[in-house]
Amino acid sequence: MCSIIAYAGQRVAAPMLVQSLKRMEYRGYDSVGLATISNKHILVKKGVGKVEEVNKSLGLEKMNGSVGIGHTRWATHGGVTDTNAHPHQNCKNDIAIVHNGIIDNYSELKKSLITRGHKFRSETDSEVIAHLLGDFLHKKYDIKKAMINITKKLKGTYAFVAVFDDGTVAGARFDEPLIVGISKDGYFVSSDVLGFIEHTDKAIFLDNDEFVILNDNGHAIFNFDGSKVKKQVTQIAWELADAEKGRFAHYTLKEINEQKHTIINALFSKDSKLDEFCDVVAGAKRVVLTGSGSSYNAALIAKQLFSKYAGIHCEAVISSEFQYASGLLDKNSVLIAISQSGETADLLQAVKIAKASEARILSIVNTPTSSLARTSDLFLGINCGPEIGVAATKSFTAQLALIYRITEILSGQKLSLNRSDLERLVSKVLNDTKYIANIAEKIKYIGNIYILGRGLHFPVAIEGALKLKELVYVHAEGLPAGELKHGPLALMDENTTVIMLNPDDETYSDTLSNVHEIKARGASVIGVSNVNSNKYDNWIKIPKAKDILYPILEVIPLQLLAYHTALKRESNPDYPRHLAKSVTVK
Ligand code: AGP
Repeated sequence: MCSIIAYAGQRVAAPMLVQSLKRMEYRGYDSVGLATISNKHILVKKGVGKVEEVNKSLGLEKMNGSVGIGHTRWATHGGVTDTNAHPHQNCKNDIAIVHNGIIDNYSELKKSLITRGHKFRSETDSEVIAHLLGDFLHKKYDIKKAMINITKKLKGTYAFVAVFDDGTVAGARFDEPLIVGISKDGYFVSSDVLGFIEHTDKAIFLDNDEFVILNDNGHAIFNFDGSKVKKQVTQIAWELADAEKGRFAHYTLKEINEQKHTIINALFSKDSKLDEFCDVVAGAKRVVLTGSGSSYNAALIAKQLFSKYAGIHCEAVISSEFQYASGLLDKNSVLIAISQSGETADLLQAVKIAKASEARILSIVNTPTSSLARTSDLFLGINCGPEIGVAATKSFTAQLALIYRITEILSGQKLSLNRSDLERLVSKVLNDTKYIANIAEKIKYIGNIYILGRGLHFPVAIEGALKLKELVYVHAEGLPAGELKHGPLALMDENTTVIMLNPDDETYSDTLSNVHEIKARGASVIGVSNVNSNKYDNWIKIPKAKDILYPILEVIPLQLLAYHTALKRESNPDYPRHLAKSVTVK
């Protein structure tokens, strides 16, 4: 997944484009590039690396012109090279394009373009867009017509923006997010509202099969068949400050610390749709939960809570596996889709499959303006503000908090604590973390880490392992502690490190005997619990609390452990290698 930004207006484009790309860099950080128009000439500068580095080495923000496009790349087709970086141009260099998504039929398009004399410079799928547009405009210089023609040809998922040497900007969207920002001195086109949040809170969200043209007459939006579309202007709720690191060294640490507020906000959400959401769930013949990564781990916890407290038995299906699970849904079913970004391609595909079986689509999402929120029959916001660190932290605990609230309404039982107690408990976990950095020092070079838990702690164990995988690049595995003797015990020896989730709830004594079994094989154990044990080599203390709250209280130290261990290994926790914040390609 990549980030796209464009500006056309009265101001010098490059400095703004560079700032926007810095803010959206969590979407992809393999390479960066800009194209600007000056005196009817397109200037392109691009290179491998982060925005800061490439801007410094190539002077991106010094490029002239009040019209321009920019891109940060998350490589899918073609290696991480300067040539494969975007923008890409056509043979006559009078067009430059940036693209997010995958053009499935790019090789056949490329072949036919080469037979017509086009010369390709990169290995990317995206470059075909520049040559195709050039081909259409060569026949007749009509940008609207060219956009209609190219959207007929392209297969796959795409959001692309093209700039033409006459200063026109055009962008199209099919299964990848694209948003127009309307400011007092010009227009932005961006993959994400964060791309222009500094300049305006007025946005137009393109829907699938729509394209926009920006030129001296202002902006116009069309369907792929060329018919004009009247679009609503949306006021964006997020503010710039939400997207800044503030006093924190990293977004990840800032977002971990924001949990003292975000958990409370989600648990005491005043969303007017909550009751309607729960009525639909309670009235459904079948309920299926889906999500990817951390959102799937939250779905696993929802499955246990809905069943245990409300007697509603659900399936939880990983979104990327959904297409292979046929016959799951029908018109009496409900799909609950969980996502931070609301743009994850696997999840949006699962929603498409569910819609085709006439199931109702409910969603729990952080980005209220996302594709998921806009395609759902009903969505609930977790409202934890923009999450920029690639690792989900505050969004995961806010998802859990909202799931607790839904469970309370479905079961008619008061399950969790009052506001002040919860604030106290979360602050307590967040405040004494210094020793976690010491534990990070001890585990920084360990190659295999197993996180074990029972019941609600098992999905948290998977989540903790995911944080270690994505931030520390270590083989970490979340396992149900009860499965130990059925195989994983064979992995235990003096070189093995195990993190045991073991608060004193219904799982405590069985899990403690697992600790004994593991210690008997010489492995070292880090206990996460409100009760210490002389079997722990290290103890991560969490406060005594209601059983249902332990999943929230125990995942925070696991987030911090991954964060500090990443620092100890000198990797940047905000931009883990090979990953991106929301994965908008399948
Ligand atoms: C989690 O830390 C990862 N960033 C990733 O697994 C993420 O949870 C997954 O891609 C789902 O993203 P979403 O919640 O935005 O749909």
